[in-house]
Amino acid sequence: MDTKLPKRDPLQDILKELNIAVDENRDRVIIGLDFGTTYSGIAYAFSTKPDQIYSITEWPGAQGRSVPKTPTVLKYDGKKGFQWGYELDRSIEEKIVGIKLLLDPEQERPLFDSTGAAATQAELKRLGKPPVDIASDYIAAIYKHSMKIIEGKVPKDYLSMLDKQFVLSVPAAWSDKAKDTTLRAARNAGITPIELIKEPEAAALFTLNQLKNQGLSVGDAITICDAGGGTVDLVSYELIRLIPLELKELVPSTGGIAGSLMINRRFEEFIKSTVGERCYLDLKETNGWRHAMKTFDENIKPGFRGRDDEDQYINFPMANIADNPNRGVKANTVTVTAVNLYGVFEPVFKEIDRLVAEQINKVRIKRLQDKHPKGADIKAIFLVGGFGSSLFLRDSIKKAHPDIQVIQPNDAWSAIVQGSVLSKLPQEATVVSSVAERHYGVAVGETYDPVRDAAHQSEKYWDEWTEIYRIPRMRWYISKSDDLERSRTIDFVFSSSFPSNPSPLDMKTTYDLLMSSSDIAQAYVNETVTKNCSLSIDLSVVPREHWKPKVRASDDEEYTNINFKLLVKVEGARMVFSFECGGKEYGAVNTEY
Ligand SMILES: Nc1ncnc2c1ncn2[C@@H]1O[C@H](COP(=O)(O)OP(=O)(O)OP(=O)(O)O)[C@@H](O)[C@H]1O
Ligand SMILES: [Mg+2]
Repeated sequence: MDTKLPKRDPLQDILKELNIAVDENRDRVIIGLDFGTTYSGIAYAFSTKPDQIYSITEWPGAQGRSVPKTPTVLKYDGKKGFQWGYELDRSIEEKIVGIKLLLDPEQERPLFDSTGAAATQAELKRLGKPPVDIASDYIAAIYKHSMKIIEGKVPKDYLSMLDKQFVLSVPAAWSDKAKDTTLRAARNAGITPIELIKEPEAAALFTLNQLKNQGLSVGDAITICDAGGGTVDLVSYELIRLIPLELKELVPSTGGIAGSLMINRRFEEFIKSTVGERCYLDLKETNGWRHAMKTFDENIKPGFRGRDDEDQYINFPMANIADNPNRGVKANTVTVTAVNLYGVFEPVFKEIDRLVAEQINKVRIKRLQDKHPKGADIKAIFLVGGFGSSLFLRDSIKKAHPDIQVIQPNDAWSAIVQGSVLSKLPQEATVVSSVAERHYGVAVGETYDPVRDAAHQSEKYWDEWTEIYRIPRMRWYISKSDDLERSRTIDFVFSSSFPSNPSPLDMKTTYDLLMSSSDIAQAYVNETVTKNCSLSIDLSVVPREHWKPKVRASDDEEYTNINFKLLVKVEGARMVFSFECGGKEYGAVNTEY
């Protein structure tokens, strides 16, 4: 068992101990942050004016354009400083891109061509900074900029009087570890108190809140597909109430790395195969290359409708590409036929189609199992996120699910960040329960039973206090597909024994929180069971009256036992832990992923 104690943030500890949370009755400014793979955004609202959510639309370098997001790119200069976002739009140098995907290295990325990200990897190595620090620098920059804008909109005294409350969105498909890393990046940027929300959940709240008077009714099932630059995330809800809006998640959210950036990577591969490897390597160093990639990203990619489109021409100004009529290369211009483009797009769209079909099937099965009056009907699929505005994507999902309406709502690009703000506005819109994506539990040392545990005999161990053999058996406290109500706390019962005059270290007990994605919950720890995080609990805060004196049978040695409950609360996208003993709740639980 890992007993290494995690680094503590003293202020957080003090706040936890004092049980200080955001006071929902005080006037607050709620600030939503969307840290995206390709674009990031910030929106805000005042709790006193909950029907108005404002997006930050002015960005340094955007030259007066009003846009709800700014590119997630940055470039460090020699003197500790860095440029970010649109400031780098016109720059031709290599910059750090796609940093968000590096925060979850464990995600499967079937379409991801890692060579495309080589420049970023090399830059990180040169800087000697881990991705979480780069993310933190970037988040700090967009936050500082946004605060300046907000300060310009309201009297300074008023703003300084308000509590600040932050909500940061994270992909639904991410591991708890990656969510925690993102949270750390934001906290290190000075952003607290902060809560996480699943990106498609935020999008759902915003979109459905806008549409609640337009043909939606209680009991309807809807699916949200948030297609961004890096990830595609899916989540499905049943409408429980319309005013105020209340949603219940129907099945576990799913998703994968199949965002629009993968299309860019695949297009680079196409150019490489057209001009040849050597020419490609030279080309990549030129301004012409960056110009061409920008044309692809901003014009060709968004306009793609399908195999019947007209040919496109992509020009590499000032390059030195040898003409090759057979491959459509002439005068530094490559002809890109619709069939070529289809080949570039196809695997990404196929992956998204697969993800959507999987989610839709799960919803249908669930509603039929529940004998829901609306049966297997799904009212609509909402497409949000930047990539969600693709007409080709819309057509492809429509074709696969002709009986479901596919809707591309207004403001789909900024739906996530606005939804994050909305989730914290009083009386506006809430998700009342979500669905567990996996089993969560702990391996508990239970009395060894030679018959029942015969196949696991080698795992038994001697308990020095109770003087019996024990065996770690899995106790699952949250099962895959369980409804996790937002207001409910789940408790895990524990017992810990230590010497009667314990040292402070004796009183720190560490458990591994385990998880499993397999459909059947396993009885013993096996290869399908992996560690989610370790939880270190400091029992020294428990008053002596709850310490139970015990005596060891064999030698009359005195020892102490404490029974306590580990409490798990499901906040937006994250589990929050505390423990309870003698009816009192303590915050002294540290999580290390
Ligand atoms: N019509 C379109 N077709 C394909 N891609 C598009 C289209 N419009 C925008 N995009 C792409 O969408 C991406 C931006 O979307 P968004 O801001 O939702 O993503 P993100 O938040 O950066 O990524 P993620 O949410 O995956 O971390 C960009 O990669 C952009 O090229
Ligand atoms: Mg996004």
